[in-house]
Amino acid sequence: MKRPTKGFGRFFMNIKQWTSLGLIFLLGFILTAWAENKGAEKILIQGGASGNIDFPHHKHQNTLSDCNICHAQFPQNSGAIDSLKKSGKLEKKGVMNTCLKCHRDMAKAGKKTGPTSCKQCHSIKG
Ligand code: HEC
Ligand code: HEC
Ligand code: HEC
Repeated sequence: MKRPTKGFGRFFMNIKQWTSLGLIFLLGFILTAWAENKGAEKILIQGGASGNIDFPHHKHQNTLSDCNICHAQFPQNSGAIDSLKKSGKLEKKGVMNTCLKCHRDMAKAGKKTGPTSCKQCHSIKG
């Protein structure tokens, strides 16, 4: 029997074509994920008069599931926090409060977390 060649019949006809199209999309997806820019492993954050912060970026990426826990406040660019603070689009200590809140909540819950005291974070002169 001849297969239908009109309308939806023709649309679904060539399974091989659909399979290769699917593979192309899958490959694109894998390459995009692989090429994602994770930024520096460690970042020196400017902390004003209290001293700078030695921030372990990749350690947080490995522990936290979502980049946007932090990057909802500032984009994934070097110097983003400083330029947003300068232009008044981000409050001073706004990012710090995000850091602190998480560390405090986790400490209260008895989990392993980061520092909650000023000097443990602001330890680098600059
Ligand atoms: C716990 C907070 C936090 C998380 C989570 C986080 N980042 Fe970042 N990221 C930062 C900070 C802080 C900076 C420095 C911003 C600045 O220089 O003003 C930064 C900067 C960057 C930069 C800019 C390049 C650089 O090294 O300075 C890239 C790219 C980046 N992050 C990618 C990511 C990706 C991708 C994820 C998720 C897999 C992620 N970040 C998760 C805090 C975080
Ligand atoms: C978990 C780490 C952490 C802790 C703990 C912490 N800070 Fe910060 N602090 C930061 C980060 C990151 C910034 C820079 C980003 C921002 O301003 O939100 C900052 C910024 C600052 C600034 C500069 C604000 C500006 O732009 O002029 C001051 C001052 C400051 N912190 C004081 C303190 C004091 C005082 C304490 C203790 C009560 C403290 N910090 C505890 C991480 C921390
Ligand atoms: C949503 C939760 C969360 C946020 C937001 C977060 N942290 Fe942390 N932080 C952690 C956890 C969990 C650890 C412990 C990771 C580990 O030791 O494996 C940690 C550890 C640290 C440490 C100690 C690392 C070490 O090697 O001992 C520093 C310093 C630190 N965080 C700074 C920051 C700063 C600065 C920010 C904001 C820019 C920030 N954290 C935001 C959860 C968070």
